[in-house]
This record gives sequence, structure tokens and C-alpha cells, in this order.
Amino acid sequence: MTNRVALVAIGETKYDEHWDYSLRDLASMAAQKLYMSIFDRFDYRNIESIFVGNAASAAFTGQLHLNAFVADAIGLTNKPSLRIEAADASGAAAVRAAYFAIKSGMFNTALVLGIEKMTELTVSTQINTVQSSVLDREWEEDAGLSLAAAYAIMARKHFETYGTTREHLAAVSAKNHEHAVLNPNAQFRRAFSIEQVLKATMVAEPLSLLDCSPTSDGASAILLANEDLARKITDDPIWISASAQGSDTISLMARDSLTTLKSVRSAAEDAYKQAKIADPKKEIKLIEAHDSFTITELLALEGLKIYEPGQAGPATLAGETHREGSGIPVNVSGGLKAKGHPLGATGVGQLVELALQMWGNAGERQVDDVDRALAVSIGGTGATSFIHILSR
Ligand code: COA
Repeated sequence: MTNRVALVAIGETKYDEHWDYSLRDLASMAAQKLYMSIFDRFDYRNIESIFVGNAASAAFTGQLHLNAFVADAIGLTNKPSLRIEAADASGAAAVRAAYFAIKSGMFNTALVLGIEKMTELTVSTQINTVQSSVLDREWEEDAGLSLAAAYAIMARKHFETYGTTREHLAAVSAKNHEHAVLNPNAQFRRAFSIEQVLKATMVAEPLSLLDCSPTSDGASAILLANEDLARKITDDPIWISASAQGSDTISLMARDSLTTLKSVRSAAEDAYKQAKIADPKKEIKLIEAHDSFTITELLALEGLKIYEPGQAGPATLAGETHREGSGIPVNVSGGLKAKGHPLGATGVGQLVELALQMWGNAGERQVDDVDRALAVSIGGTGATSFIHILSR
């Protein structure tokens, strides 16, 4: 099958604690931005299908039937719509479903809208309970494990096996916060030093508050199209040259390794094959990597084989993954850590950032000459991972 799938338009809200906006408001704000960007070339009412990425709207806001709710909010009630859930990789899962829809020839266009409104729950223990329900409820959560504690276990094993340190983790946070200062859509446009990250309140040893992504509200949208239509909607389509998924056991205790994300590894192998990438370190120019916790970014980069196991931490501390570093820039948007992490929106938002960069529309944080970029989105502790590679 040769149908090429293109990303042709984007729209996004700022990620933040949006006390004044409802779930409906967020969906329509992101969609309207997207519609406005193409209004002179394509009537949004001709969009053929809708894929909604959302992790837990029933638990956060009491709203289920989200495919219909979002279709209604964005003025596309008479179109087929689906809601896709894969923990905090729900947005990337929805992108993959939309990719299938175009690739198969079933639809010519698919709108992907990732959304989460987490602050409707105001008590942080309640929010934490919802976040932790992405773990294995019977084997892990009922035994008292939280998501932060699960990643803390993985971090400690990484420390013990490879000599990774808290400074290495803190360098991820300091970098991503510094990047977010330049992103108007980021929740925390505020830099923190490594020292400040180390001194922040401990959440789950060795992860402090500043090693964790925050509670966020937001929505991100992208429009996918087949090649014919893509060229009508934009002069500059961005091609999805790989869409891959990897899996692992949902519970940590059943895993062979706590220091390798097998789901990222297998998704990367498949993605590199699809995109015909022989040497990812040389051929990929920009990465948006899931950093729900700082250790997650290091595990992701090692899973992608950008760094050997144990090397991502020292490389980050040396500044290689910084926007102006010597390696591949990682999370120039600010990442989940500082741009924010509205669970279902995040995986779509990663592609919004890559598209902005590839179109040269990323403003002050623009990275030069991005012709190939990768997004990796990780569900929970890595039972599910998605990788998308975009090319010019
Ligand atoms: N990074 C930076 N600052 C943060 C932050 C974070 N992750 N979380 C909260 N803050 C800030 C708040 O803005 C607030 O600042 P202010 O006093 O200047 O207003 C302050 O820290 C306290 O915020 P609060 O809302 O009381 O934090 P909390 O203790 O309720 O929650 C965490 C903090 C880390 C526990 C929470 O953000 C969390 O659970 N994060 C993990 C998210 C997660 O698991 N994501 C994956 C889901 S599948």
C-alpha cells in the first residue's frame, strides 16, 4: 500500500490550569485555531472523520461518550468519531488510529483532537488516584503503588545498574524548564536550576516535585490527509513516515528489566524500518520525548538507541540534548515537564511542536533545518509506547 499520510494543519490551546475553560471550551478552542489556519483552502465541514485522544474524562470531569461530545463541541456532529484511550499515550494512540484510517483509504481526512481537563478534580489525592489507575489496578495500585513511586523504583534500579544520579535527572528538568520559557503555550515558563530541582519537595525518592510533570488542562489538534488532498490544503505537507507501537507487561513486577523500556525499543525498531532510518543519531534532527518524570526521558532516549543504556543521563548533564547542544535537541517545547501534561492531549501536542518546527513557525525556540523529527509517547510505566516519525 503506498497511500502517503500527511499532517496538514495544527491547532492547540495553551497547556495550563484552565479554571475558566470547560472541556467543551478547550476542544473548540484547539479546533478553531486549526480551522482558521486552513479556512482559505479547505472548509472544515468537509473533514471526514474524528479521532479523540483522551485518558480519563469520566474520572476527571464526569463526562463519557467523548467522541460525540467532542464532535459536537467542534461543529462536526454529522461525522464518524471515535475516542481512543491508552493511558497518557492516548493522544498518540488516536494519531495512529487516524493514520490507519487514511492509509487504508477509508477516509481522505481525519482530525485528531487530544484533550484532558484534569483540574475539574480539585483534591490532589483524587487526581493522583486517577493518574495511578494507569498501573495494574489489581497487582500494583491496590498494593499502594502510585505512578510516581513506580517511576521512582525504575530510577533507583537505573542508579544501581548504571550509576545514574539525581543530578542527571535534575538536568532533564532544568533543560526542559529552560526550553519552556520560549514557548507561549507552556504551563511553566519559568527556569529552574539543577540545584533548585534537587532541593524541591520530595514526591517519591529520588523524584522531587520538579522531577514530575504537572496537573494540566489542554487540547491539541492535528489534521491528517491523503496525498491528493494534502497538496490542496497546504503547499508544505509533512509526511508521517512511520507510525509504530510497542508493548510490554502492564505491571512492573512481570518485566524482565526495570531499566529498559521494551515497548520503546520494539516500536523504535519498527519505526526506523518504516522510515528507512539506518542511523537515528545522524538522521533525526529533533525529538519530543515523553518525560512524565525526568527518568522517563532518559529511559526513552535509551530505548530509542539515541544513547546506550546509562549514557543518556551524563549526556543530558553535559548539555547535549539542549536546544543549542551538540546532540539531538530533546523537548524544545518544554516537554511534559514544563509545557505540561494534559494526558490525552500530550501525544498530539508532541506532533504540533514538531510540525511548528518543521514549518519554521516555532518563533524564538526555532531549531534550524528540521527535515526529520520523532515523537515518542509512553503510556503509564511503558506497557504501551507509540513512535511517530515526520519527514519533509
Ligand atoms: N512541576 C513544577 N511545579 C509544580 C508541579 C510540577 N510538576 N506541580 C505543582 N507545581 C507547583 C504549582 O504550580 C504550585 O505552585 P505555586 O505554589 O507557585 O502556585 C506548587 O507547585 C504546589 O502545587 P500543588 O498543586 O499543590 O502540587 P501537588 O502537590 O498537588 O502536586 C505533584 C504535585 C508532583 C504530586 C503532581 O503534579 C503530580 O502528581 N504529578 C505527576 C503527574 C503524573 O503522574 N502524570 C502522569 C499521569 S499518567
